[in-house]
Amino acid sequence: MKDIDTTDLSWDEWDELKDPRSEENDFDAVVERALSRRGFLGGLLVMGSGAAAMGTGLLNTTAAQAMTPKSRFAFTPIPIQTDFTVHVPEGYTWDVLVKWGDPLFSGVAEFDHAAGGLDAENTAKAFGENTDGMELFLIGDKQVLVVNHEYANTKTNLHNHVDGKAGSAEDVLKLQNLQAIAVMEVAEDENGWSVVVDSPFNRRLTHNSPMQISGPAAGSDLLKTAADPTGTQSLGTFNNCGSGRTPWGTYLTCEENFNGYFGSTDPEFERPADFVRYGVNLEGRYGYEKFDERFDISKNPNEPHRAGWIVEIDPSDASSTPVKRTALGRFKHENAASVVAPDGRVVVYMGDDERGEFMYKYVSNGVYVPGGDTSTLLDDGQLYVAKFSDDGTGMWVALTPEATGMSAEEILVYSRMAGSAVGATTMDRPEWIAVNPVAVEGYCCLTNNRNRGVKPNAGGDDTSVNGPNPREKNNYGQIVRWYPEADDHTSDAFTWDLYVMAGNPTVHGDDAYGGSANVNEGNLFNSPDGMQFDSAGLVWIQTDGNDKNEGDFAGMGNNQMLVGDPVTGQIERFLTGPKGSEVTGLTWSADRRTMFVGIQHPGGFFPGKEGDLPRSAIVAVKREDGGLVG
Ligand code: FEO
Ligand code: CA
Ligand code: CA
Ligand code: CA
Repeated sequence: MKDIDTTDLSWDEWDELKDPRSEENDFDAVVERALSRRGFLGGLLVMGSGAAAMGTGLLNTTAAQAMTPKSRFAFTPIPIQTDFTVHVPEGYTWDVLVKWGDPLFSGVAEFDHAAGGLDAENTAKAFGENTDGMELFLIGDKQVLVVNHEYANTKTNLHNHVDGKAGSAEDVLKLQNLQAIAVMEVAEDENGWSVVVDSPFNRRLTHNSPMQISGPAAGSDLLKTAADPTGTQSLGTFNNCGSGRTPWGTYLTCEENFNGYFGSTDPEFERPADFVRYGVNLEGRYGYEKFDERFDISKNPNEPHRAGWIVEIDPSDASSTPVKRTALGRFKHENAASVVAPDGRVVVYMGDDERGEFMYKYVSNGVYVPGGDTSTLLDDGQLYVAKFSDDGTGMWVALTPEATGMSAEEILVYSRMAGSAVGATTMDRPEWIAVNPVAVEGYCCLTNNRNRGVKPNAGGDDTSVNGPNPREKNNYGQIVRWYPEADDHTSDAFTWDLYVMAGNPTVHGDDAYGGSANVNEGNLFNSPDGMQFDSAGLVWIQTDGNDKNEGDFAGMGNNQMLVGDPVTGQIERFLTGPKGSEVTGLTWSADRRTMFVGIQHPGGFFPGKEGDLPRSAIVAVKREDGGLVG
């Protein structure tokens, strides 16, 4: 343990290192797992035949592929890459729109590669680090891009860091200003796309920006601090991972690994059960707690309760206060996929990205009326958690005081515990959820889970293999798809299948780790994560996985973006990222002739020249003939 360089750990590896859980090894659990495995084999057949009847299932996919349907993809798929740049198909181009440290306002200092970029003050006026979820909004005739900055790479961003942590209050402020949100107008001219510096839409939100807390948990004792005795006004939005957009044109940013910002200066501090469940530890990842008391849980034990929410931001008004919507629950939010149900109610699907955590759904009580009042649609509604059966059916279980034995406020602040109380299905790390715009179905990337069948989640819930999570020590990931009953996203019941199980048939043949039938030597990938549908109903899949290109991952190359046809099951590779990077974040220009793709934590010198610091960036991808790209 001593030799681990913690700055290189992913967030979940960090959490596990700080909060190790013993492996499950009692005899009963082993027997139960074996039974579950057999159950899965039976379940797949049942699921397949049921799904085939619906015309889009896994078995049907295989049949459709055997008939080699006409491809709906307007490109020639590209091979894997292991280099330090971006590749797109022939007939397409890519260019950098914006990268870490580029100015949003005039007067920002020159980016200094030797000094780790910009100082804290300039950082707050520039594009932040580690681009992630993003959405583009057309406001009048202006195109406004809202972008998440998920986290900071201390080794790159703090050239004088101490063991990967802040060594001063100035360091902390720089890290706080590197993260959160950028709102910026973008425009295209004969030289390509760029940020409109000083646009009135431009804005940076940081870990210190004022936020309003709304919904049923606002004002709860659980959210009150000495600085905010009302429990309704917090500072900052944290670990902004995936994104979402509401039908009324606002941006949803999703607070994921918020736990890592908190720590204790008192080594004797006793963590309550919810800190254990959410991974709030005595040692913070960045050292904020040493220089900024707000992040010291021994002094401000309720401050972590004010993070881990979905936050709504109005991109049309740079002076508006973002709103933390407590009705949507508190967990490690990946993204938020909204859809309007036939009766006008708003449904928001959400995943909790941690091994063995859950999938959630929110349904508003009020209905969405275009042009009407939308201010309480995300404050007044019911939160549900997903329960999958191995036979291809499932239920959304309402998290109510009766069902959970918890108060309404506790259900929202401790949503994970509420999910455990009703026996929600432990999942293989739910990442992005996407809703098909041309069919009534949802998709969730279950990125991977090395603990599946090995040890329980942080709440002690069993993680034996189950229907949608059928492989022990799942190193490849899969995408689960569900069909709401009666073609209505507000329905409690659904049926489900697996759209794809990633795998490596060249290494594992046709056992489960070889993947599903729509995985082949030409489209190998692992760890699906980002996901968006385009207007034609094709699903774009981005990866955040092992890019060593060896062993189980041989033939997969760098992280990438693929596109899938939900009807035929066909999946092909469209873009490869630089080695070391994750490809995450996808949105389109208003005319759909440009696709914006995020490149997070690239290796090498991307996108600069030898000797430069690598800088996360958004690239603009176009067709050479100016055609539509989604
Ligand atoms: Fe920030 Fe789960 O990805
Ligand atoms: Ca992600
Ligand atoms: Ca991921
Ligand atoms: Ca990431």
